[in-house]
Amino acid sequence: MTQRIWNFSAGPAVLPESVLVEAGENLMSLGGTGIGILEHSHRGKAFLAVYEETEALVREMGAVPSGYKVLFLQGGASSQFFQIPMNFLTPDQTADYLVTGAWSEKAEEEARRFGKTHVACTSHDKNFSYIPPACSCSSNPAYVHYTSNNTIFGTQWPGLPPVPGGVDLICDASSDIFSRPIDVSKHAMIYAGAQKNLGPSGVTLVLMRDDLVERGAKDLPTMLQYRTHAKNESMYNTPPTFAIYLVGLVLKWIKQGGGLKAIGERNDRKAGKLYAFLEHSKLFKPTAAAGSRSQMNVTFVTGNADLDAKFCSAATKSGFDGLKGHRSVGGMRASIYNAFPEAGVDALIAFLGAFESEYAGHKQ
Ligand SMILES: Cc1ncc(COP(=O)(O)O)c(C=O)c1O
Repeated sequence: MTQRIWNFSAGPAVLPESVLVEAGENLMSLGGTGIGILEHSHRGKAFLAVYEETEALVREMGAVPSGYKVLFLQGGASSQFFQIPMNFLTPDQTADYLVTGAWSEKAEEEARRFGKTHVACTSHDKNFSYIPPACSCSSNPAYVHYTSNNTIFGTQWPGLPPVPGGVDLICDASSDIFSRPIDVSKHAMIYAGAQKNLGPSGVTLVLMRDDLVERGAKDLPTMLQYRTHAKNESMYNTPPTFAIYLVGLVLKWIKQGGGLKAIGERNDRKAGKLYAFLEHSKLFKPTAAAGSRSQMNVTFVTGNADLDAKFCSAATKSGFDGLKGHRSVGGMRASIYNAFPEAGVDALIAFLGAFESEYAGHKQ
């Protein structure tokens, strides 16, 4: 088999090897059924068992309180950007957005099609390199939307954003879902594309409080009403069966690893050592402000675009893939989601150190 390399992709991203092996084994026959996981009907007993186990694991790992629906939707997190305001925002209402990066900007732009929006805080002034310390919410927002981790800019809300109690808080957790313990009860809704921390692309996990499901607009096309999916256990239409199955395997792996508390500690350690190196480096520096730094996407630069390019090219040749930063930040980005091994972070730090020894004098 071709040797696997260190994959720092921002998403789709690295998956646990044990998950890939188990999925491979079940491609030809799921358990003893004689039918592969890709070929089972979503209405059949075998897949229904997979579905029920996956939903139960979401509830257990996320400590999802009763009174919340677990939905598996399609169309990516990007479809939630419009589906949320379509359901919960009317032209006379205002929805608040905490704008901390390109994805929250997109979410806010979509909401403007349906009602008024209010930007309760933004870090646009410094290219989204920090998390704003305060928010000023409108007096009676339909909901308040935030992005818990800013994949492109390498920042992350350290905890819940400072919004008034009682507002319906909606979180796009696409790039840090289940990477640390999360208090679902403080949210009206949490959604995330699976392809970074939970599985492959093709499925969006939605956790939604029951009353919000009920409150959604009733005059929308059937597929765009959350109640349709809530009533039909996400099987009003054919769900992304393989992606749901994979999410189940990843959740089992998270459970075996000690759940979100243990995963969170490991992610803390992984990101902590990388930032510690960058802070003390003579060549590299992190782009995100201290106190706002993401544990999932570590963004850094040398301060010299040619040297950044040289680093990325040398890294690729040495088996470190996907380190080129997003064009809106430049430099490098190491995405080190749940399944990214700690040994890969150690290997990257060693490689950064070797590059620094060679090039620290060439910075200007
Ligand atoms: C925070 C965040 N939100 C939304 C998206 C869009 O997700 P999708 O491609 O599933 O629509 C991404 C994709 O990287 C993301 O990082």
